[in-house]
Amino acid sequence: MAEIEQVPHILSAKQFDTDQLGDLFERTDFMADKMRNSEPIDCPRRLGRNAVATVFYEPSTRTRLSFEAAAQYLGLPILSTENAGEFSSAVKGESVEDTVHTIGRYAANGAIVMRHKEEGALEHAAAAGSEIGVPIINAGDGEGEHPTQGQLDLYTIKKELGTTEGLNVVIGGDLVKGRTARSLAILLSLYKDNHVTFVSLPELRIGDDIKHHLAETGTSYEETEDMYTALKDADVVYWTRLQLERHDDEEKGKEGICLERNYVIDQAAIQTMEDDAILLHPLPRNNEISRSVDHTRQAKYFNQVENGLYVRMALLDKLLRAADE
Ligand code: CP
Repeated sequence: MAEIEQVPHILSAKQFDTDQLGDLFERTDFMADKMRNSEPIDCPRRLGRNAVATVFYEPSTRTRLSFEAAAQYLGLPILSTENAGEFSSAVKGESVEDTVHTIGRYAANGAIVMRHKEEGALEHAAAAGSEIGVPIINAGDGEGEHPTQGQLDLYTIKKELGTTEGLNVVIGGDLVKGRTARSLAILLSLYKDNHVTFVSLPELRIGDDIKHHLAETGTSYEETEDMYTALKDADVVYWTRLQLERHDDEEKGKEGICLERNYVIDQAAIQTMEDDAILLHPLPRNNEISRSVDHTRQAKYFNQVENGLYVRMALLDKLLRAADE
């Protein structure tokens, strides 16, 4: 089958530039205003089989439900398999490519939002999507990336601080397995004068590929195990959980890999931060942010969750329009 050119897949944070993100965030503001004011959203869209399919081979609360809510609020039908590894025909050995070709018959004018535990699976899905003209959105691929999470994280930074430039951003926790930190670091590298401080145990450090990317783009960064010193100068603190499901049993058993030992954001940690700094987390959290700080002025992670809905409404809207161009 001939490949259909320029299917607007969303696979990596690296595919975006500041103009595209600016347009996306403008549309996100539009969606947020409409939703908060309970106003109708006039979004001319493709007709016919315009469903949004959510195909998740890994668990999710926010990503799947926000994409599904976004589709519903835009008036698009939803096709969903929330545990595709068990409840789809993947169990019977069906490939990702055949799954995409099948869903494409029901959602030819829509999009497929996919999360997969294996890095690279989304590229296979996108190759199949290109054959039939259906965009694939990466909703998290193994230890790779989670680009739409990076977008909503960046949008939240912009909304809360009024800028995405000249920021001291502390990214901490499990950076070796956490894909959201990777996508956010890539997006931050698009803007001038950002400085990223990665805080983690040595065995949880962010991958060399991300460090190379920051170096290549002229984005300054450092790595430290000292959370308290890093928090003092931060404009943004982006904290992440230990990705237990991605560490093997031997690693989990190590005392040293326990984030609770040194890396809990509690009242003492919050008091180290500036009053106008913000604390973000992609969620879910375990114990690495104490619930006792949820009502501090710095805690913005539930704003981040809500922003995810508006960003994904804007993304779907732009994606389905672009597919027509
Ligand atoms: N942030 C995020 O990806 O959350 P879920 O795993 O609940 O989708």
